[in-house]
Amino acid sequence: MKTKQRFLLIPLFVFLLSNSTIMGQNTTIDQKVDSLLSLMTLEEKVGQMNQYNGFWDVTGPVPEEGNAATKYEHLKKGWVGSMLNVTGTEEVRKLQKLVVEESRLGIPIIFGFDVIHGYKTVAPIPLAEAASWDLEAIANSAKIAADEASAVGLNWTFAPMVDISRDARWGRVMEGAGEDTYLGSQIAKARVKGFQGDDLSQPNTIAACAKHFAAYGFVEAGRDYNTADIGTSTLYNAVLPPFEAAVNADVKTVMNGFNLLNGIPVTADKNLQRNILKDKWGFDGFVISDWGSIGELVPHGYAEDLNHAAELAANAGSDMDMESTAYITHLVNNVKEGKVSEEYIDDAVKRILKVKYELGLFDDPYKYCNEEREKERLYHEDHQKGVLDMAKKSIVLLKNEGNLLPINKNQKKIAVIGELANDNNSPLGSWRIGSDDNTAVTVLEGLKKYNSNITYSKGPKVFNSDANFLMDVEVNETDTNGMQEAVALAKESDLVVIVLGEHGFQSGEGRSRTQLGLPGLQLQLLKKVHEVNKNVILILMNGRPLTLPWEAENIPAILETWQLGTQTGNAIAEVVFGDYNPSGKLPMTFPRSVGQVPLYYNHYSTGRPNYQPNVFWSHYSDEKNTPLYPFGYGLSYTDFSYSNLEIDSSDQENIKVSVTVTNTGKFEGEEVVQLYLHDKVASVTRPVKELKGFQKISLAPNNSKKVTFTLTDKELGFYNNNYEFVVEPGEFGVMVGTNSQEGLENSFVKK
Ligand code: NOJ
Repeated sequence: MKTKQRFLLIPLFVFLLSNSTIMGQNTTIDQKVDSLLSLMTLEEKVGQMNQYNGFWDVTGPVPEEGNAATKYEHLKKGWVGSMLNVTGTEEVRKLQKLVVEESRLGIPIIFGFDVIHGYKTVAPIPLAEAASWDLEAIANSAKIAADEASAVGLNWTFAPMVDISRDARWGRVMEGAGEDTYLGSQIAKARVKGFQGDDLSQPNTIAACAKHFAAYGFVEAGRDYNTADIGTSTLYNAVLPPFEAAVNADVKTVMNGFNLLNGIPVTADKNLQRNILKDKWGFDGFVISDWGSIGELVPHGYAEDLNHAAELAANAGSDMDMESTAYITHLVNNVKEGKVSEEYIDDAVKRILKVKYELGLFDDPYKYCNEEREKERLYHEDHQKGVLDMAKKSIVLLKNEGNLLPINKNQKKIAVIGELANDNNSPLGSWRIGSDDNTAVTVLEGLKKYNSNITYSKGPKVFNSDANFLMDVEVNETDTNGMQEAVALAKESDLVVIVLGEHGFQSGEGRSRTQLGLPGLQLQLLKKVHEVNKNVILILMNGRPLTLPWEAENIPAILETWQLGTQTGNAIAEVVFGDYNPSGKLPMTFPRSVGQVPLYYNHYSTGRPNYQPNVFWSHYSDEKNTPLYPFGYGLSYTDFSYSNLEIDSSDQENIKVSVTVTNTGKFEGEEVVQLYLHDKVASVTRPVKELKGFQKISLAPNNSKKVTFTLTDKELGFYNNNYEFVVEPGEFGVMVGTNSQEGLENSFVKK
């Protein structure tokens, strides 16, 4: 009898809390959260801090404790705050109904998923998008992803990944914005805005998640899940700013990570999560652990057992436990035993409930379960246009000797070679778990729309055909079957378009590599083709920088196309046939050799930076120090010249730097004008240069534009080792140019 009364009364109260007035009074979300919290038992509070994986898709190791029967039981008790990997309006509705109707308080759950580069309609991988340096297009791509994800019941994406990384061996570089903190911060903001929009309660916006807090991009030797050990200056100046930018853009959630940072697992790092994120930056959303990362405190040698791990993570400020079952099993006892204060629990639960209110889940728990929208929005025509636009902008022209590109639309006898040219799965990239396999437009299909004089030869097998998200990709190293046929075709053709690279599943989570060259027999194939035909256009597909010294030296035209998603073939064809003039710029340095890694443009100077006629200077005896292609590099079908670099530092709070850019070539084109600064002498040494501004401009042939940058203390300052932002007087070098190594230089003095 008593229980029944509760069932009737409390959900009614929760419903009333959802309305903007209670008994004639305006209530803020905070007030509603407080009222609801006051009704909750300790078990229910801890339940909100528990996230379970769904019953089908798996994106990490599955814990024994989390079987389906227990999960259902806990859902009914209100002991689950969120589910991940449950998609589709029908499934989401089913679970939401279970929770809302059967749990005592009926608090709706929030449904999360890795919507990393699109849901059904797949956008280019994030690293590719970063190559566009086009913040509007990137925000739009996230918006499209949110539109589709929200149509299948989801209201939370575990994106953007804002980890800065300088190590191309790490497979997850495909998921971020590359090596640069300034560019990464701008992109972090754009992605958060794209996912969340201006109003989170709209049915087509979803909560974003900045991850992985922090320094996961610095895993040693590029091996995933490995340790990170970095200095304070790198942490404060290189790693943290994109997270802070995401927080300033009102990101609703932050995910911690698997890695140790200087000996402490970040999931249990109180300084990072409580002191910096929540106190210093004022982050008022919630922190989700990474998959099982609370449980992993045990193998890290930081916690004795799962019970201890729950205590450490909760005290450190991890608000929600993804699939460790640590909180739901042990946190209540930890509180009862006085190891975790109930204040910490209340704080975590308030943060979680707040996001649920902001999403509008208390107004309508089924608001993301609109079956009509689900049918209408997936693969929508507008989304195809959006990702096509994004894909074209992501392409980087690395080389174009003799203007081999673009190809004449009436070109005779084109040979298209390479397994990847006819692959409709690999170009979808790694994190497209919501999409359908084999749905990319292939390069071959795209090119054939323009020109019918195309003959295709696959060449030797490269990858296993059933490569998937869960397993390492197998690469053929021995079977040369198909090689001869491809070379014969190249010989009798006027022009060869050869598509080579990595498989889409060779980068991404758990996919580190020690070799960064073209996998398998691809380089051998390329060399043989080049022997018989010099007119070779190499189209690269890869999820990370590759080492391509022979290719760069010998192949006249090279296009970096990454993995471009659903519209791959159409985007590449537009560029190859000249309907779109490429404008992308590398967001990561391409090394000459894997032995140079980590190689990045904003390094410090050594004490011995310059050539000496002996060995006693900082160099390799078998390789240059310089990259093959530097950060910020990318060509166009037209040419741009830079002149008149002027600096006006009379207003020290707004220093103006201007340059004139002229299109000296034959095509209309876009150029990313990049500004780099060097604080020449500082109390903590500053990198040799740092990107501090960029503008993407469009110019018709023979036209010029004056581009002006304004430098404030924000651009001139840095964090000292006490994490204080300081601006120090002295000389600053300025370089404005077309990439991180080429530009006009000057300097000014900050007084
Ligand atoms: C582990 C990954 O590190 C994280 O980025 C992802 O969001 C979760 N798995 C959930 O799939």
